[in-house]
Amino acid sequence: MITLDVRDIRKKFGNHQVLKGVSFRIDGPELVGLIGPNGAGKTTLTNVLDGAIKPDGGVIRLNDRRIDPLHPYEVARAGLGRTFQVTRAFRRMTVLENLYVPALAMDRHANRRLVDEKANEILAFLTIDHLRNEYGRALSGGQQKLLELGRLLMLDPDVYILDEPFAGVHPSLMATIYKWIERVNGQGKAIILISHQMESIFTLCRRLLVLNFGDVIADGPPQVVKNDPEVIKAYLGNEEDMSGTGLVTLKEAPHA
Ligand SMILES: Nc1ncnc2c1ncn2[C@@H]1O[C@H](COP(=O)(O)OP(=O)(O)OP(=O)(O)O)[C@@H](O)[C@H]1O
Ligand SMILES: [Mg+2]
Repeated sequence: MITLDVRDIRKKFGNHQVLKGVSFRIDGPELVGLIGPNGAGKTTLTNVLDGAIKPDGGVIRLNDRRIDPLHPYEVARAGLGRTFQVTRAFRRMTVLENLYVPALAMDRHANRRLVDEKANEILAFLTIDHLRNEYGRALSGGQQKLLELGRLLMLDPDVYILDEPFAGVHPSLMATIYKWIERVNGQGKAIILISHQMESIFTLCRRLLVLNFGDVIADGPPQVVKNDPEVIKAYLGNEEDMSGTGLVTLKEAPHA
């Protein structure tokens, strides 16, 4: 069974303690929403989890193997992958080539025909197969988000972390991404979904983790978390819009 165990992760940038001892555990194919006001530390936590940033303290275990000392490519091979809040499609490669990269990075001797088949299947599922020979740079923001999801599917890790997958995405593509998330989760993968769009969080997630100033202030079912006084205060303190979804609606991340 997939397990992700995050224990007391701390990270400081200069004098700014951005993560103050973050702990949580994921057991099995959970679909967990990671929410919190702008600057709470969600992306930093993701960067620590995928090995891009080394924590000052704490331990991360994936499937009982310690991953916090590993390089990002080793973490990916160990089974944890992520998308980026600001997309990072390879701009000078075609869409299809973009999808080859993770597969070949995992296994240089991968069967090209199988890789090609899988890539085309993923592009069709994401409804961007007509763009297969376009360069990454020619894609719209929303299409780049889909391409990133596609690359993550090619990697097919045990734990998927999606950092704002809906930001800048045309509403007509939202349903495609919802389906994508549900399919991957249904195939037994764990997903951490970071989103300021509370509708997506409340539609998809059965558990919410709330980060505020680098602390986990709530962890539980959405209906419980959204009535938690500390959570309400955290969002009010940040002057976020509290209407909609019965309680919390957040605006898009400004830099997404
Ligand atoms: N490389 C860095 N150097 C210095 N400070 C940083 C760095 N990365 C992030 N920070 C700071 O850490 C804090 C947390 O940022 P982070 O991007 O993790 O928040 P977030 O929860 O992802 O926010 P958002 O919802 O806006 O995406 C912010 O105050 C940010 O300015
Ligand atoms: Mg962020």
